[in-house]
Amino acid sequence: MPSNNLIIVQVTDTHIPPSDVLYRGINVRQQFREVLKKLTKKKLDLLILSGDLAASEGEPEAYLWLKETLSTFPHPYIVMPGNHDHVVRMSRVFELDGNEIMQGMLYFTRKINGKRLIFLDSSSSSISKQQLEWLSTEIASSNEQALLFIHHPPLLCDCIFMDERHALQNHHDVWQILEKSRQTIKHIFCGHYHTEKTVIKNGKSVYLTPSTVFQIKTDTPEFAIEHSKPGWRIIEWKGRQVHTYVEYL
Ligand SMILES: [Fe+2]
Repeated sequence: MPSNNLIIVQVTDTHIPPSDVLYRGINVRQQFREVLKKLTKKKLDLLILSGDLAASEGEPEAYLWLKETLSTFPHPYIVMPGNHDHVVRMSRVFELDGNEIMQGMLYFTRKINGKRLIFLDSSSSSISKQQLEWLSTEIASSNEQALLFIHHPPLLCDCIFMDERHALQNHHDVWQILEKSRQTIKHIFCGHYHTEKTVIKNGKSVYLTPSTVFQIKTDTPEFAIEHSKPGWRIIEWKGRQVHTYVEYL
């Protein structure tokens, strides 16, 4: 009998370089390998790679390396794009379902263990009108609870550098639609900000998940690295309850 529980690990902002080089002294590929090794031993249903898989502009070598490295991972995984990804190159390497790519954007719904997961594509640093309409329809189609995954947080998070320089351009429009979802979407999982944080607004929780490369200081207007300990997020969805926390290597 299929279980009614779902245990997900969210890994984000892996920024895999196209070759085995160090970034600011950080061995990015090695850190990812070590995270994966740790996750291999866990009881999981799903791994979600929530964007910025590639170092800077969707390098195919990064995707090939990731796919190869994930080939021995014992759990299924889902990839979604961030602003440093290229959807078409990503979909070629990961052999994604062409039906889920519309006008170069990768957004879709998946039902796993009877539970609904919604994925948006913010790789252009904005959510297209087409996706906003789709999201409205998706929300209206069922009042069944869903978790939302989106690379960029759909609101400002009181993280000075990222809010001022790299926020989602039309976060107000996205938030307006989410407000209409009332009880359907209450938990939103993001990356992009390279930090660990939970922002609660009008009964919805937006969870920021740390990167596997480095974390960014939240209290400075300039870019500054807080530390380079890789992190990830565990999401335990049991019945109607969602419990989530971050772990570090
Ligand atoms: Fe990003």
